[in-house]
Amino acid sequence: KIEPMQDQLQRPIRDLRISVTDRCNFRCTYCMPKEIFGDDYRFLPSEELLAFEEIVLVAEIFASLGVRKLRLTGGEPLLRSNLPSLIERLWQIDGIEDIGLTTNGLLLGRYADSLMNAGLRRVNVSLDALDPKLFGHINGRGIEPSHILDNIEYARQTGLQVKVNMVVEKGLNEQEILPMAAYFKERGIKLCFIEFMDVGNDNGWSMKKVVTKREIYQMLSSRYELEPLESNYLGEVAQRYQYKDGSAEIGFITSVSESFCSTCTRARLSSEGKIYTCLFASEGFDLRQMLRSGASRSQLTHAIRDVWESRHDRYSDERTEQTAQTRKKINMSYIGG
Ligand code: GTP
Ligand code: 5AD
Ligand code: SF4
Ligand code: SF4
Repeated sequence: KIEPMQDQLQRPIRDLRISVTDRCNFRCTYCMPKEIFGDDYRFLPSEELLAFEEIVLVAEIFASLGVRKLRLTGGEPLLRSNLPSLIERLWQIDGIEDIGLTTNGLLLGRYADSLMNAGLRRVNVSLDALDPKLFGHINGRGIEPSHILDNIEYARQTGLQVKVNMVVEKGLNEQEILPMAAYFKERGIKLCFIEFMDVGNDNGWSMKKVVTKREIYQMLSSRYELEPLESNYLGEVAQRYQYKDGSAEIGFITSVSESFCSTCTRARLSSEGKIYTCLFASEGFDLRQMLRSGASRSQLTHAIRDVWESRHDRYSDERTEQTAQTRKKINMSYIGG
């Protein structure tokens, strides 16, 4: 019988975010700016990525230690071949109650059916603007929003529940807040506004570029009546609201203005098999090395327990302009947010 575990700040583990690739078909300005992630950028060679067998084993161990919820991320997770077969295998793990996928949506039209058949029920699609020129600029590849919107529609028709994520950055896309809200409200799709975060060291973050939840909320309440909703479970990331007319929900991810570290129940597994206990960590624990040198399940379990029990991360609680600029942090495209 395995004892439940808590970290140094008495937080249990509930979620594992699994990055399945460090590659992406977008070059979002706030995540993989194309000046840095150019043609000669070296992504991980495939043998350095965890194989599906390895991912499943790690997920099984995490589940035995308390994880109930898995989320597949990237880079862009739909670039990993046979992703649906991984989802099928993850669903077979004892204790797993929820599996989600976070994607930019470009390949969602192609894969929605097979994802649904593999048992996936929820996808989070990132979309930061409806204006074609602006969206093309933000994604760094000139991709038009209509492709993503069509794919969202298609995914919903197959039965997938879709949530949309919008990163808001001052001077970039705050004029898109109201049009995005109107579009998704009309369709009954949940829209989450994400405060621009200082992930990695390459995205030009400063406090001045953050549009806070408060500002977004004020903008929305000039047009709509909103009411708060109770959070669904301990450690839910988004603060939820709904339109009073019941048409749709919205959420705010307030990592900068109202940090939520005290209830952070998440671990992250990078595409090359390192465990990170914070989105803003600088070092991870190399599980791949153990996996590939023949460690037993019980050795792996002990190692993961050690990592969690020594954890005391609370980066967003402590964030200052100074930590944002000087601390070395892992890139988002590598651990998937
Ligand atoms: P569900 O609640 O399952 O729908 O997913 P989610 O909102 O937790 O995941 P998603 O991948 O859609 O992430 C939305 C945003 O929340 C991204 O910008 C993530 O980087 C951010 N996020 C998720 N977990 C954390 C966290 O522990 N800390 C911080 N600072 N940000 C997080
Ligand atoms: N700040 C906030 N959110 C970000 N994302 C990527 N980079 C950042 C950032 N610097 C978002 C993506 C995606 C989710 C996984 O994280 O848009 O929706
Ligand atoms: Fe954009 Fe997501 Fe790709 Fe980063 S991983 S560049 S946020 S689509
Ligand atoms: Fe968790 Fe780190 Fe995010 Fe805080 S900043 S909520 S500790 S991942």
